Amino acid sequence: MAHDRGSQEAGRSAVPDRHGSRPSAPGGTGRWLPWRAATEEALYGAQGFYRRPEGPAGHFRTSVHASALYAGAVARLLCRVDEALGRPRELGFVDMGAGRGELGAGVLAALPADVAARTRAYAVEIADRPAGLDDRVEWRAEPPERVRGLLFANEWLDNVPVDVVEVDAAGTARLVLVRADGRERLGEPVGGEAAAWLERWWPTAGEEGLRAEIGLPRDRAWAAAVAGVERGLAVAVDYAHRADARPPFGTLTGFREGRQTAPVPDGSGDITAHVALDACALPGARLLTQRDALRALGVTAGRPPLSLAATDPTAYVRALAAAGEAAELTAPGGLGDFGWLIQPVGIPHPLGDGDTETATEYGTEYGTEDATEYGTEHDETCDGKQGGKYDGKRDGA
Ligand SMILES: C[S@@+](CC[C@H](N)C(=O)[O-])C[C@H]1O[C@@H](n2cnc3c(N)ncnc32)[C@H](O)[C@@H]1O
Repeated sequence: MAHDRGSQEAGRSAVPDRHGSRPSAPGGTGRWLPWRAATEEALYGAQGFYRRPEGPAGHFRTSVHASALYAGAVARLLCRVDEALGRPRELGFVDMGAGRGELGAGVLAALPADVAARTRAYAVEIADRPAGLDDRVEWRAEPPERVRGLLFANEWLDNVPVDVVEVDAAGTARLVLVRADGRERLGEPVGGEAAAWLERWWPTAGEEGLRAEIGLPRDRAWAAAVAGVERGLAVAVDYAHRADARPPFGTLTGFREGRQTAPVPDGSGDITAHVALDACALPGARLLTQRDALRALGVTAGRPPLSLAATDPTAYVRALAAAGEAAELTAPGGLGDFGWLIQPVGIPHPLGDGDTETATEYGTEYGTEDATEYGTEHDETCDGKQGGKYDGKRDGA
């Protein structure tokens, strides 16, 4: 079974020896590059990790692979957006960084028939379209423009490559350079907008050995994705940290064949770093945990009553399995701690205030004067489909 990336600890095993004493990969040499450029090539170059046929699910599990309950919850969120938009003739669903398109297929399967019939589902992905994907999912390398609906990015931003800095003995933050075998050395001091970003979002306080990851490319990638939504909602879900608790040595790490590894930019495995979602947030966004977001969307981990076992054993076993899957999706220390960055564009927040006590608000809201009020009636239809017909890959093997 592939590794659940939700359970990784913040960069602990990923912190390399600052003098570059990590053992070399066989034959691994090559140029010294900043981490961002090295990762770009290792993940998305011609021989890049994400271009491999087995896809992300061959190496790790995301919430999408963990349970069909996840696609069911996203489908219910899409229903709320649909209501807020006044049930448009065409409702967009954009799965950003779609992997093998499992989420789009699962959402379509979980939607009520009348909503599914109006939904145009896009999978935006660098890798090629996988064989056998639901024909209704449109495969694209770039996001569509002027979407009215929901853009959903599950574990996309952590794979937008970032540069890494480390504080040297003189207290200066310098770019970390890396070779294809994973050996590192320090490069130039950081300056310009990268230095400004660090100062604002991840100050390193000049203590030798501290590291930070410059989230600027993710802020920009997210802003560009949100700009493609004309009206509706954009959601980014990822393992995240906030300004008040940045990990002092960063989080850069690797994954290969279900295991967390040292990050080696040779194309053989994933390279990822937690996301400063608070820095990505645009005005009007809310940031909450996956646990709270899924609870607001009706995913709870309660065990079914024992009495059900006597009256309907099959239903009891099914409900027990669903409770186990819900527990995994909402687990403290695991997927439940993921951040959901919820960015409305011209509609009210679709997760009600009462659902999200832990939410952090960012800036002022987008205008919502002409938004249709969203209610619960339609959600009930969606709720009736929870778990739906999705029979996509579950174990990511
Ligand atoms: C960790 S995988 C997540 C896949 C899927 N969303 C899931 O949750 O299982 C990240 C995916 O984002 C894709 N990706 C990264 N940058 C992208 C970009 N700029 N445009 C489209 N896809 C991108 C990668 O190729 C990879 O398949």
